[in-house]
Amino acid sequence: MNDNAFSLSSPGPLRGTITVPGDKSISHRALMLGALAVGETRISGLLEGEDVLATAAALRAMGAAITRPSPGKAPGEWRVHGVGVGGLLQPETALDMGNSGTSTRLLMGLIASHPITATFTGDASLSKRPMARVTDPLSLMGATFTGTKLPLTMTGLTPAVPLEYTLPIASAQVKSALLLAGLNTPGHTIIHEPIPTRDHSERMLQGFGAKLHIEETAKGRTITLEGEAELRPQTLTIPGDPSSAAFPLVAALIVPGSEITIENIGLNPTRAGLIEVLQAMGAHITLQNPRTVGGEPVADLIVRHSPLTGITVPPHLAPAMIDEFPILFIAAALAAGTTHTTGLEELRVKESDRLAVMAEGLTAIGAKIEEHPDGLTIHGRAGQPFDKAATITTHLDHRIAMSFAVAGLASTKAITIDDAAPIDTSFPNFFPLMQSLGAEKA
Ligand code: S3P
Repeated sequence: MNDNAFSLSSPGPLRGTITVPGDKSISHRALMLGALAVGETRISGLLEGEDVLATAAALRAMGAAITRPSPGKAPGEWRVHGVGVGGLLQPETALDMGNSGTSTRLLMGLIASHPITATFTGDASLSKRPMARVTDPLSLMGATFTGTKLPLTMTGLTPAVPLEYTLPIASAQVKSALLLAGLNTPGHTIIHEPIPTRDHSERMLQGFGAKLHIEETAKGRTITLEGEAELRPQTLTIPGDPSSAAFPLVAALIVPGSEITIENIGLNPTRAGLIEVLQAMGAHITLQNPRTVGGEPVADLIVRHSPLTGITVPPHLAPAMIDEFPILFIAAALAAGTTHTTGLEELRVKESDRLAVMAEGLTAIGAKIEEHPDGLTIHGRAGQPFDKAATITTHLDHRIAMSFAVAGLASTKAITIDDAAPIDTSFPNFFPLMQSLGAEKA
């Protein structure tokens, strides 16, 4: 067994109150927009995971001053001194994106309308992921690229050509890349989104003072951004990440006798699909103290162990829970009856091929799974714990690692995860938090 291998188990019910780290999507955007505002942006609750730190390092390399003024005192308190829209500088070395698709695609958008040449590199997982979805439309704006996979070098164009574009896939990363490119572009950047995706960029752009018009029609959403924007620095509070909360949440649902509270979770409707689906499966999840934090809806979640029943997950909910399918599959494998999922082709190009990797891992621990090109069918165990020892290969995918770690809490045999390291990309304190609820790590 390598040094990074681990398993989780639960000697008894999970109990306690936790807060999870700040939202990853919002953290990336806070740093990027702060870097484009003139003056000091103050951020609390920033996720200090490797993906967000990769964004911070890249923005520093392009001239923004990004600091964490009180290390050890207030985690998540950061300051950004921006350079102004159009003010990013030529980086002197390659930008190392690590494992982070969001950093890569959004920064490509930022650079596309600056007179900058930049090389992007990443780890083995990121180097396999498709970039044509951003390089194609950014090329229409005038940027040039040496390829469509990392490592690649791009050169931006100033002034860039304003774009009107219909998203061919439901992707908030592509939408956000184009909006960021549009900030330093004359005229209007217009994006049609047939299937709405997470809208953190739109909310935050408006907060920073960009002129943005959003129209909702039966055909989806159209976002019109006025270019050559001037952004005003902001004071931002980032809510807890619902995609991280999903792991302790499902853990409490599947371990008998559990009751936990997860405080301060972002419940933007474009992110909250998992809660809706789990409630339809019979989960006891109560939302308490609803409020607005940093322009985003937030609440505390009270979660109790619940017998679950399989359902057919409506494909229109996929964008609102796109990162939560791995952990939903674990819950579904323990539910009574069958769960059907479709419309999930995008899961094949995440940090790993999440349909193939989840199907293989679940089969190894004793679940009955059918894998389809665009989803999984899962025949649930009606509350019977998993009963086969297995070692799961994470393929550099944090959500695969955490999903099978949670599965270990409802298993009579050890489920060993081969590599804990990817968890640091999004949820650095995953283990202490799970241990504080009563889980044991071996
Ligand atoms: C993200 C969008 C989603 C999501 C990713 C974060 C974002 O990706 O899976 O974890 O912050 O915009 P896609 O745009 O590829 O759907």
